[in-house]
Amino acid sequence: MVSERMKLITPSATLELNARVQELVAEGHDVVKFGVGEPDYPTPQHIKEKAIEAINANKTTYTPAPGIPELRKAVTRKFAEDNQLEYDPSQVIVSVGAKQCIYNALMALVNEGDEVIVIAPYWVSYPEQVKLAGGVPVIIQTTEETEFKVTPDMLEDAITSKTRALILNSPSNPTGRAYTRDELAELGAVMADNEVWAITDEIYESLVYDGAEHVSLPTAAPEMKPLSVVINGVSKAYAMTGWRIGYAAGPSDVISAMTTIQGQTTSNTTSISQWAALAALEGPKDPVTEMVKEYNRRRKYMTERLQNIPGFECEAPEGAFYVFPNVSSLIGTEIGGREIDSADTLAGILLEESYVAVVPGSGFGAPDNIRFSYSTSMDQIEEGLDRLEDVLS
Ligand SMILES: Cc1ncc(COP(=O)(O)O)c(C=O)c1O
Repeated sequence: MVSERMKLITPSATLELNARVQELVAEGHDVVKFGVGEPDYPTPQHIKEKAIEAINANKTTYTPAPGIPELRKAVTRKFAEDNQLEYDPSQVIVSVGAKQCIYNALMALVNEGDEVIVIAPYWVSYPEQVKLAGGVPVIIQTTEETEFKVTPDMLEDAITSKTRALILNSPSNPTGRAYTRDELAELGAVMADNEVWAITDEIYESLVYDGAEHVSLPTAAPEMKPLSVVINGVSKAYAMTGWRIGYAAGPSDVISAMTTIQGQTTSNTTSISQWAALAALEGPKDPVTEMVKEYNRRRKYMTERLQNIPGFECEAPEGAFYVFPNVSSLIGTEIGGREIDSADTLAGILLEESYVAVVPGSGFGAPDNIRFSYSTSMDQIEEGLDRLEDVLS
């Protein structure tokens, strides 16, 4: 029998979908994968070389739990240059992906029964991690009406005497929307007034398009700096998902608590990956620029084609690599004699009938939507959208 705690936790919807896709591929089906949440590029060569050098130089032992000093220093430089945020290296922790940073931050901040605000549509792990930390996720539902963004009024309404923190994700997975500086300043003012902590997940920072600007929450609302844990990483920007490096910066006592948690659970993240991440942060940015240019081309193409498919409603997202159409007008209709009773059913039909893998929005707290990732080649995008049009006609 597993613990009571585990009865509250659900497995990751995206990982489950991947398992089914793998099955179909193993059966020999040619699946177009719009479900993926990672770059389709290899890690840039200069980063890989630094990792190989680290292995050959025997940099393969334990490191300090919060990371090698060189990397923590590089992270402070990154925050200063890109986000105008000043931190001391002691206020930085390097962890197993942004995912572990978020979990450590929740464990460090949340008392049993504290409320943590999560904005839906949300990344699947947020509510589950809040529950694992003993907190209660309080969901604010947003829709297309506010571009899937929370407004200061919505936030005020959700705050109670038990509210401890809010998890913010901009640019967002799954919606692709990014908050503007002014919007963040307004939200920050509400949070600071109510002494609500921000756990701000900025993992998609580098992936913004058409002049949209990524702004960090405490940059837009400096009064929030003492109440913010800013989280980022190398996974999405440098095509390094498998290396498992994320980092967080914040007030010394919280980072110190996160370090204790990490020191008693995983210890440091992989030494070799830390040297590779250092090369990523300190090295040339051209590979990132190239990737962003190509994502932008695909984003425009995919959005336009989806907008032309009857029943798919979406605006062009300004960040990350997802388009998140609303398909509610198809619910109640039929495809090939099968009734579409939900977006989940539609996603199932697309996978089983046309071998197009998408992620239904229900796992993200958005049951009327479907997430399409354009982190796949233009050929695959064309092929997948052709199949989608075929099955829907
Ligand atoms: C919003 C969001 N945060 C965090 C992560 C995890 O990033 P990492 O690979 O750094 O753990 C993901 C990965 O899909 C994500 O979409």
